[in-house]
Amino acid sequence: MFKGKLLHGGDYNPEQWLDCPEILEEDIRLMEEAGVNCVTLGVFSWAVLEPEEGVYDFNWLEERIDRLGEAGIQVILATPSGAMPHWLTQKYPEAMQVQENGKRNLPGKRHNFCYTSPVMREKIHALDERLSEQFGKKENVILWHISNELGGNFSDGACHCKLCQEAFRGWLKKKYKTLDNLNRAWWGRFWSHVYTDWNQVHSPAPHGEWSMTGLTVDWRRFVSEQMSDFCRSEIQAVKKYSDLPVTTNFMAFFKNLDYNRLKQEIDIISWDSYPFWHKSKDEVPEAVWASANHSLMRALKKGPFLLMESVPSAVNWREYNPLKRPGMHMLSSLQAVGHGSDSVQYFQWRKGRGAYEKFHGAVLDHLNGKNTRTFRDVAEVGERLYALTECLKGTVNVPKAAVIFDWENWWAVEDTTGPRLDLDYVECVLAHYRAFWEAGIEADLIGMDEPLDGYRLVSAPLNYMYKSGYANKVKRFVENGGLYVTTYFSGAVDDTDLCFTENHPLEDVLGIVPEEIDAPSEEFANSFSYQGREYPAVRMCAVVHPKEGTEVLSVYEKDFYAGAPVVTRNSYGEGQAFFIAAQSDMDFLRVFYRDMFQKAGLQNALGIELPYGVTITERVPQKGYKGQAAEEGVVFVMNFRHEPAELSGLGEWKDAENGEIVSSVLRMEKLSCRILTK
Ligand code: GLA
Ligand code: ZN
Repeated sequence: MFKGKLLHGGDYNPEQWLDCPEILEEDIRLMEEAGVNCVTLGVFSWAVLEPEEGVYDFNWLEERIDRLGEAGIQVILATPSGAMPHWLTQKYPEAMQVQENGKRNLPGKRHNFCYTSPVMREKIHALDERLSEQFGKKENVILWHISNELGGNFSDGACHCKLCQEAFRGWLKKKYKTLDNLNRAWWGRFWSHVYTDWNQVHSPAPHGEWSMTGLTVDWRRFVSEQMSDFCRSEIQAVKKYSDLPVTTNFMAFFKNLDYNRLKQEIDIISWDSYPFWHKSKDEVPEAVWASANHSLMRALKKGPFLLMESVPSAVNWREYNPLKRPGMHMLSSLQAVGHGSDSVQYFQWRKGRGAYEKFHGAVLDHLNGKNTRTFRDVAEVGERLYALTECLKGTVNVPKAAVIFDWENWWAVEDTTGPRLDLDYVECVLAHYRAFWEAGIEADLIGMDEPLDGYRLVSAPLNYMYKSGYANKVKRFVENGGLYVTTYFSGAVDDTDLCFTENHPLEDVLGIVPEEIDAPSEEFANSFSYQGREYPAVRMCAVVHPKEGTEVLSVYEKDFYAGAPVVTRNSYGEGQAFFIAAQSDMDFLRVFYRDMFQKAGLQNALGIELPYGVTITERVPQKGYKGQAAEEGVVFVMNFRHEPAELSGLGEWKDAENGEIVSSVLRMEKLSCRILTK
């Protein structure tokens, strides 16, 4: 746990209020009342920190950090590269991004800088070094926050300027050495797209080359590399005079940046969570989405992460923005903690008076000071986190199951033109993950390069690309007793989107020989029965043949491939591999995974069936935690329904907060979280 505390607070932008000293004073007073113990300063402060090129004004920041320190409030200090000041873009327009269509952006908005631009790097480096010098050893500054939501602009996250093209070519040269290798990897003779000079290579563009997935996937890899490299250059600057750890705030299922790459640069994972609560009365899909993202963040470094931003009421950027209903703020905050977050931070502390985010929810509204429902909700979270600190110290979730979620696979499977053009990788992963969520069995979301040791069950839906080494790793995993599940359209191509020939790389493990894939229209939808119930086979229906010894658990019922397997099981070494040939529905996945959990010997922390809308997670004392860790596991029981829930058959537990003994039955209010321990 960071500094022995669960952090509570959020983005604080006092630079917008420097001419209102009474507001600045009130901020500190109300932060104390709201149980705020940590704020993030400086995220977009460049124009105030460096009002003219090379002229720095840090006094206001120093004053704020000191005042916060006096009140016992810690500071996460951001570098301000998220938005560029006008003097910079005026003098150095080349620091702004160029879009895919070749057009250079105009000044303004944010996240508008070229990741390659030497002048951008030089200017931010100079400022970062000074921040490091002045604040890097301050007692209440605890963490560097590099930039903001890297890659988060409104297009593909990339810059397509001449310098970026050059850097891309350099990256390719390093990777492929020769043009022959590159042409082979990208299948260059197709449509005569053979490169004979490195300078012919150009980033993918709607009015240019978009027809080679080898290129598009490599471009995306390069973009992730470039953003990570930019981040590293800022990290070098802030570390010049400071040993503080570093984070940068990630986004939910953010396609443009491979977080498995960027994580290598930073010490602590943090992310910004904005689920669309109250989109419908059934909150489960959003709760699953949020849980999946928390699980992904936790799994990146296999440890606690920070919730860096969330909104205490409503955002302002969706078409319509529902307020959080009573109970939801507490529940969604504890959901993060229940999945391994050691913080609940908000965007933002106080609503600004003008511009784009003036109606974005914040702890303090324009009117009424602390006399608001939102403020009271926040203060309640602060109080509860404070009280929970001891029992959560040194704990984190350690799931025994994992779902493969890999950026490179995501790019490839959605860029490629295959049986369907509307494949949605995240949606597919979420459907599988949801079966775990509903059963209260936790799963990490991990990339293909991660080790599989320690998991009993690994599920790899829509695992189209097998990166080099992956098939062998799965083979060993199953051989050693693991249970592996995968689906249609898996193991089709290698790292550069070249199709495997002759045999499927996991043919022996899965015990099947794939032949064709049907993407039927709705009228041609198929079906299958599994354990006596019929389920739909829709959208993607692979036709495969079982190998000798493979058990066929279910077959298609219609069409020319009636009788071909839909669900198979193969024993391999000590373990088993299951293959699902067709896309089905949640009812099927629920029943299917119930079997898998049983076969893998996985149970939720309470060992009971959960009512719909309720999930549970468990934080256990972390191995190797430096410091006094809690002794017991702590179970979070969360009810995402708008009505009370009752759980029965759970043996004897203790409510970790009020000490009440819970024996056999647990009653839950609507939209609520109970925290149990032994
Ligand atoms: C992101 C940004 C914040 C703010 C919020 C609004 O997460 O990092 O600066 O714009 O969105 O929801
Ligand atoms: Zn560029």
